[in-house]
Amino acid sequence: MGTIAERVAVMQFSPIRRFNKYAFEEEAKGKTVYHLNIGQPDIHTPECFKEAIDNFDEKVIAYAESQGLNELRDAMVEYMKRDFNMEYDRDDIIITNGGSEALILAFTALLNPGDEALIAEPFYTNYNTFCNEVSGKLVPLTTSAEDGYDWAKRDLIEAAITPKTKAICALSPGNPTGRVLTMEDMKLIGEIAKEHDLWIISDEVYREFVYDGKEAHSFGQLPEIADRVVIVDSVSKRWSACGARIGALVCKNKEFMDGILKLCQGRLCVPTLEQVGAAALYRMPKSYYDEAKAEYEARRDAAYEELSQIPGIVCQKPAGAFYMTAKLPVDDIENFLMFMLKEFDENGETAMFAPAPGFYATKGLGGNEMRIAYVLTPDKMRRACELIKKAVAAYNAK
Ligand SMILES: Cc1ncc(COP(=O)(O)O)c(C=O)c1O
Repeated sequence: MGTIAERVAVMQFSPIRRFNKYAFEEEAKGKTVYHLNIGQPDIHTPECFKEAIDNFDEKVIAYAESQGLNELRDAMVEYMKRDFNMEYDRDDIIITNGGSEALILAFTALLNPGDEALIAEPFYTNYNTFCNEVSGKLVPLTTSAEDGYDWAKRDLIEAAITPKTKAICALSPGNPTGRVLTMEDMKLIGEIAKEHDLWIISDEVYREFVYDGKEAHSFGQLPEIADRVVIVDSVSKRWSACGARIGALVCKNKEFMDGILKLCQGRLCVPTLEQVGAAALYRMPKSYYDEAKAEYEARRDAAYEELSQIPGIVCQKPAGAFYMTAKLPVDDIENFLMFMLKEFDENGETAMFAPAPGFYATKGLGGNEMRIAYVLTPDKMRRACELIKKAVAAYNAK
C-alpha cells in the first residue's frame, strides 16, 4: 500500500484548531471557554449578503465561470478604485475559495519543488501547509516583539535571498503580530523585489484593519512593480463572512493569471450563491469599516491593558489586524494551554489561545508565546485576559 507522500507526512496539524477537541470536552462538562484561538469575529455579517442571495432568481444553481462571476469581479474593481485609488480591471481578478485557496494557487503557480519564499516570522501558521503542498520552502526572517516585529529592512531581507528565492510574502496588517507595513516599507520591499527579480505575494485580507488613525495601504498602489505583485484578498475578515469562503487573487501579470486560470479550470469554480452575496459586500460603503475598526480597536485596547498586568509578559500593542502575540512567563506554552483547558477555571470559566511555536519556521522559537485573536467584545476580552493572568499565577505556583 505504501505510505502517504512525504510532503504531507511532514505537515503539522494547525495549532489554531488542534486544541479545540479539549475545549469541546470541557464545554460538554459545563465549563465556559473563551475562544481566543481563532480569528472568527462575532461581528454580524452585513445583511446585504443574505438579501442578495434571497434575490437570486435563477432556476438552476449552475457552475460559475472558473475566474468568478463578472458581477463580483466588477464590484471588486470599483471597491479598489473607490477606497484605494488602485487601477485594476476585471481580467486582473480571479475569485477563489477564500484567501486560503488564493495562497495555495499562488504558491502552486510560482514555486517549483525546492524553491524558496521569504516570510517574516512569526507568520500565519497555515502558510506552512500552503507551501508544503507544492514542496516549496518558507525561509523565515525572524522578528520579535522587542524589535516591533519589523522586517522591512534591506539587510535582513537580502541576507536571506538565495538563487532559489522566488517570492517575498508580505502579510500586512500581519497575523499573528499586527505589524502594519508603511508605504515606505512597501516601496523598499518593492525595490528589493525588482532588483532581485522576485514576486511579492501580498496578503491583504486584513487591509482596512489599521488602528490609531493610521492609513491603510496596498502593494497595488505601486504601479512600478505591478507586474510582480500578487494580491490576496478575502471577504472573511473585512465583512465578517468567514463561512462564505470567498477570496481572490489580483494581479496584472498575464502569464501568472493564465497559469492561475488553468489551475482554476481544473477545480471548476467557486460557489455561485456566495459570490452573489460577496458582490453586495464589496459595494458596502467605507463607513462600514470605520465602525468595525473602532470596535476592534476597543477590543485590542481592552486585551492589551489586561495582559500588560501580567508580571514578566513581553508583547507589542498591535497596529492592525486582530491578533496579538505575547511571551508569557511560563516554561512551556502547550503545557500551559492544556492546564488552562483541563485543570484551571474561575467560576467555571477559562480561556484558550493558539500556542505560537507553529507560527515560526525556526525550530525552538515561540516556546513560551501565545497568539490571541481579539475577536470578542471588550468585556469578554478583558475577562478572558484576566483568566489568562490568573492561570499564569496558578500554573507557576503548582
Ligand atoms: C493572514 C491570513 N491570510 C489568509 C487567511 C485565510 O482566510 P480565508 O481563507 O478565510 O480568506 C487568514 C485567515 O485567518 C489569515 O489570517
